[in-house]
Parts: sequence; C-alpha cells; structure tokens
Amino acid sequence: MAARSKPNLFTPITVGALHLPNRVVMAPLTRNRAGPGNVPGALNATYYAQRASAGLLISEGSQISPEGLGYQDTPGLHSDAQVEGWRLVTDAVHARRGRIFLQLWHVGRVSHPLLQHGGALPVAPSAIAPVGMSLTSQGKVPFVVPRALELADIARVVTEFATGARNAKAAGFDGVEIHGANGYLLDQFIRDGSNHRADHYGGSLENRMRFTREVVGAVIGEWGPGRVGLRLSPTNPNNSMTDSDPVATFSGVARALAGMELAYLHVVEHATASPSTPRTLPAIRAAFPGRIIVNGSFDLASATAVVQSGAADLVAFGALYIANPDLVERLRAGLPLAVPNRATYYGGDEHGYTDYPAMAAD
Ligand SMILES: Cc1cc2nc3c(=O)[nH]c(=O)nc-3n(C[C@H](O)[C@H](O)[C@H](O)COP(=O)(O)O)c2cc1C
Repeated sequence: MAARSKPNLFTPITVGALHLPNRVVMAPLTRNRAGPGNVPGALNATYYAQRASAGLLISEGSQISPEGLGYQDTPGLHSDAQVEGWRLVTDAVHARRGRIFLQLWHVGRVSHPLLQHGGALPVAPSAIAPVGMSLTSQGKVPFVVPRALELADIARVVTEFATGARNAKAAGFDGVEIHGANGYLLDQFIRDGSNHRADHYGGSLENRMRFTREVVGAVIGEWGPGRVGLRLSPTNPNNSMTDSDPVATFSGVARALAGMELAYLHVVEHATASPSTPRTLPAIRAAFPGRIIVNGSFDLASATAVVQSGAADLVAFGALYIANPDLVERLRAGLPLAVPNRATYYGGDEHGYTDYPAMAAD
C-alpha cells in the first residue's frame, strides 16, 4: 500500500507558487553562447525551448553586473538589451508550455582583471586568490588576489541582486534561483576557507551567512514568496573551496532560511560521491521544511530512489540535459540516453548545443 502512494519522478508537485507536471529539473548549465554584449538571442531560445518538458528549467548563470562576470560570452541581466534577449528565451519556453527560472550569478573572486571593467580587481569577502586559471580573451591566466569588499560594496551588491531579480521579472521568467554554489560569491562568504573577515560578515556561521540572508531577502522582496530558490553545494571543492564543517555550516544555513518563503533549496551533492565525503542532505532536509531539489550524477534509478525515500522532492540533471532535450520522455519510457560531447560544452555555435535530436525525431 505504502509503495503505491510513493511519488516518482513523474508525479506532479507544487513548488512554491508553481505547479510542476513532473520532478525532473534542468540544472543550470553555462554554455558560453551569448552574443556580443553578453546578450542572449534566438539560438539560446531554441535550446531552452527544446527542453521545455522539464518540470522546471533553470537557466545558466546570468551575471547581475559587469563585476559579476567570470567567463567569456555568458549572458548578463543588467542591460536593457540583455533583458530583451532573455525575453526571447522565456517566450519560446512558455510557447512550449514550460516554466523557467533564471539563475542570478556573481562570480566574486573567480574572475580576472582582463574580464573586469577598467582592469579592476575581482572582488571577494577576503583577499584570498583561488588556485587555478581564468580563461580570458588572452588565453588562460592565473587567478589574482581579489579585493576584499568594503561594507558599502556589500550593500551595493545586495542591491544589484535585487535589480537582477527585477530584471528577470521584466524578462518574463517564472522565478529566480540565487547562485549560492560552486565557489562563487555567496559560497565564498559562507565557507570558512574563503571568508576570513573580522567584521559582522565573517567569523561565526551567523556572520558568514549574513550576506546570503540579505541577498535572499532582497530578491524575495522583488518576487514575493514562492518564486525564489537558492542553490548550495556544501562539499564541492571546485574553485579552491573548503569548509571546516560542511554539515553544521549548511544545515545552519538551511535552518536560517527556513522561515523566508523560498520556493526551494537546490543542493548539489553527488549520488556517486565517495563514502569519505560528508553527506549534508539529511541534515539540510531536517532543518528546512520546504522543497528540496538534489543534483549530481543522478540517473533514473538513483533519482527515483532519492525521491521515493523522501530525502529530496525533485532531481536536477545537468550533463544529461545537454544531450537529451527530451530527457523527461526518455526517462519515462526507459529509452536510451545520449552521451554529451564535452568538447562543445563551453562556447561555439549550434553544434553540440541545439543539434542533439529528440528520440521522436530520430
Ligand atoms: C557545462 C556545465 C555548465 C555548468 N554551469 C553551471 C551554472 O551556470 N550554474 C550552476 O549552478 N552550475 C553549473 N554547472 C553544474 C551543474 O548544474 C550540475 O551541478 C553538475 O553538472 C552536476 O550534475 P550532473 O551530474 O547531473 O551533470 C555546470 C555544469 C556543466 C557540466
């Protein structure tokens, strides 16, 4: 009896203010195919519309300001032309009866003076450089030591998140996801490896999550309840990220946000992670009463299991969505899944972007 009432990936679900026909989410995927001026266009609209049968599409990260840019040809959301470009995307998705959130992005220290106006230093909570290389117009160059944000800068960036949220509304999105994951600005504040501040934005967990709470509050201020999600990646080491206690840190963040009327928390925690990696999802689930999307290396079996177990409500798929525009239909019918070509992940044209066929078109 109990087994029959358990949800699967194709059981409709309410997420905040939205009613979704299934629990398959398209994860945010940077593809570096915006046009000049970081303006999205018709090619991007085709790509997202092809994937509109997802319960929810989450756009690639979209920088809220020139300062928030970390990679070439990623779409912004701070100029009128960018808002108009995104309108092509939302109209195309809605014409296919889909729903799409925009991912609001500020990369913080994961940038380079060659990508910043006037050759300015990238910004971060603390003047600590990530290890690695930034891909710029002059090729790969080492990351630099960023400028630590002043208090007035922090207030400005919070305002810029609010403006981005307002622009996403003007562009016709159904809601927004705040990018708090993968070593970008919010994550840099939350995790103690990258935040060594001595003021009330650093030190204790309460202080390290203050910036995130302010951004969430400002963005919900624009959208109202049930239309704003937040993405977290508690144990992702990319971009030189570390935290001394990911379970305590991220369950603490989840608890602090529990009363803020988020549509969901989106937790990147790989199904295939090694047993030595701490699992944060159970503690986050226990601390947060709202919807949870989980993401990372899921397939049909593991995604079904995680939803049926109640550990998460929905599952986001990244790489699989690159090569399978009709992922929902393929999973539902148990059809084979196409394998994406990594060589065309970042940048280029329609090849490896809009030319992956749906099964029905084969
Ligand atoms: C090409 C590519 C681009 C990505 N871009 C973003 C991004 O813009 N924002 C984000 O939060 N995560 C981004 N990610 C991470 C994915 O959303 C996802 O967390 C990751 O691929 C793991 O899920 P998967 O195993 O289903 O692919 C990207 C991943 C890939 C492969």
